[in-house]
Amino acid sequence: MHAEHPTDLEHLAGLTRRRFIGAGALAGAALFLGGVPFVRTALAEGLKPGSTLLGFGSIAASTADDISLPPGYVAKILISWGQPLSDQGPAFRHDGGNTAEEQALQFGDNNDGMSFFSFADDADRGLMAINNEYVNYRYLLAHGGDLPLSTEEVRKAQAAEGVTVIEVRHREGQWRFVPDSPYNRRIHANTPMAVSGPAAGHAELRTAADPTGRRVLGTFQNCANGQTPWGTYLTCEENFTDVFGSSDPALVLSSAQKRYSVSHAGADNDWHKFDARFDLATNPNELNRHGWIVEIDPFDPQSTPIKRTALGRFKHENAALTTSRDGRVVLYMGDDERGEFIYKFISRDRLDRDNLKANRALLDHGTLYVARFDDGDGNPDTPRGRGQWLALVHGENGLTAANGFADQAAVLIQARAAASQLGATRMDRPEWITVSPQDGQVYCTLTNNSRRGDNGQPEGGPNPRANNLYGQILRWREAGDDAAADTFGWDLFIIAGNPVVHAGTANAGSPSINAENMFNSPDGVCFDAGGRLWVQTDGKYSNSGDYAGMGNNQMLCADPVTGEIRRFMVGPVGCEVTGVAFAPDQRAMFVGIQHPGEAGGSTFPDRQAGGRPRSSVVVISREDGGVIGA
Ligand code: FEO
Ligand code: CA
Ligand code: CA
Ligand code: CA
Repeated sequence: MHAEHPTDLEHLAGLTRRRFIGAGALAGAALFLGGVPFVRTALAEGLKPGSTLLGFGSIAASTADDISLPPGYVAKILISWGQPLSDQGPAFRHDGGNTAEEQALQFGDNNDGMSFFSFADDADRGLMAINNEYVNYRYLLAHGGDLPLSTEEVRKAQAAEGVTVIEVRHREGQWRFVPDSPYNRRIHANTPMAVSGPAAGHAELRTAADPTGRRVLGTFQNCANGQTPWGTYLTCEENFTDVFGSSDPALVLSSAQKRYSVSHAGADNDWHKFDARFDLATNPNELNRHGWIVEIDPFDPQSTPIKRTALGRFKHENAALTTSRDGRVVLYMGDDERGEFIYKFISRDRLDRDNLKANRALLDHGTLYVARFDDGDGNPDTPRGRGQWLALVHGENGLTAANGFADQAAVLIQARAAASQLGATRMDRPEWITVSPQDGQVYCTLTNNSRRGDNGQPEGGPNPRANNLYGQILRWREAGDDAAADTFGWDLFIIAGNPVVHAGTANAGSPSINAENMFNSPDGVCFDAGGRLWVQTDGKYSNSGDYAGMGNNQMLCADPVTGEIRRFMVGPVGCEVTGVAFAPDQRAMFVGIQHPGEAGGSTFPDRQAGGRPRSSVVVISREDGGVIGA
């Protein structure tokens, strides 16, 4: 831990003592029925337009290969895939000719979740930890094909994933990347890391290369993130199974492997063909060493990242931190696959605000829970109901050796199976979760689910649509407004839809959705310090059929009290908008533009004829220097 303890982190992470606002909050206040909160929403009371929280007008949808913003806002590139992390290079090559060794010295590909860490002694200085989720081989590799064809090409992909730490400084009116900073660092798929918590050293984590089960190589497929009040970064391993496959087509996959959607072919990565570590036929336990949340200290470039197994193994989207009334740390986490679950972790020990170093093992001890939602009141327009947190504790509620869970490590390694054993509710792909700094209510994007029939997940409760093309934003309020509560009340904050093409809430969306602000597939979601709820999309950008009029992927901003939502930004062709962080003064917003031109048609951001599009982080500010969104 560092002398430059970033005091504003607590605020950014929503960990300040909650300010229960007055009359404005009443529209979202809970009615306590039988001790369980029942959320009352603005929508249930009729939408109140004209939010005073949102200081900009909704912008038009767009299919341009550019970034659109409200008048008075500007976006500049902070850093792009392949940019060297030192003055000495190596320079990015538009022909895909950079080697694996060079890629490991450059900004990674497909930037996703990110956090901003302040230096307490210098407001114009910060560190950013930024996930690099995956690669687009057609742009990564010189041959432009869709798969790697050699060990060197797999090594390059491995070097392009993981996490990048960079220093940023506010100079000449703008936040800029500092290319000569000693803090700049790449953490990738071959970086040594430690394993801690109940599953560390477990037999199922041991391999020939690591008989201890405590020293893992690498993190990859890093989706979104979390930020702790003790100044560390949490990176979430999401689609880790995509890079595993089997050299033996006759290999019989175990039920545990199948539960994580492992396949013989892998998912268009072919790492297993050139790196035996990812071959399930010869190295099956390597799979168990991924799918975790990894804690990184950005202020110590020599530090070893740590996989925190107490947080469970699944396809982690992000980690939203808050504190319980008695001062324990609570993390909300989604498992992004069709029909998977929402989890929360409550630490055993309290957060020590006076000695931040003392919190370094906080995420190793505690209880993991999974959510069960009731069917709600059945109201098609404003469904709401109640729910319960179920503890994933070995020996309780059927999590026994007789049912395949030998110990607590087994419960955590096979968290999905354990959660199913408890009767958790299958969800429409849980993506990001965020906690309101105003009232502690929790918001989670359920991005879409177009294949419900394939896996037998019934519709109902917070997943109301049989064919969920557009997604919804779920909200819950913990009993007693205590994040450590066992029960909660839920409602749907927004049901996305297309009111131009469809009628009725099921496909036209909530009353707050109209022709000017419609979107599909909400994914990134986060509160700013002022209580504005920012929403990013990872959806269909066909702009036709069910998606007509929605344009490219985008970023919107909602007033959580009135339910009003406005389109703030539209990204370039073929991108996903994902990853968001704010400067401490809220006058700069960092936004991720992931895989522009994924299916072709983009030269963002370099505009080089014949050049390759590059995932980038942009920094958005106001020409008048004002607070973003206000
Ligand atoms: Fe990486 Fe579920 O998004
Ligand atoms: Ca996502
Ligand atoms: Ca997504
Ligand atoms: Ca993506």
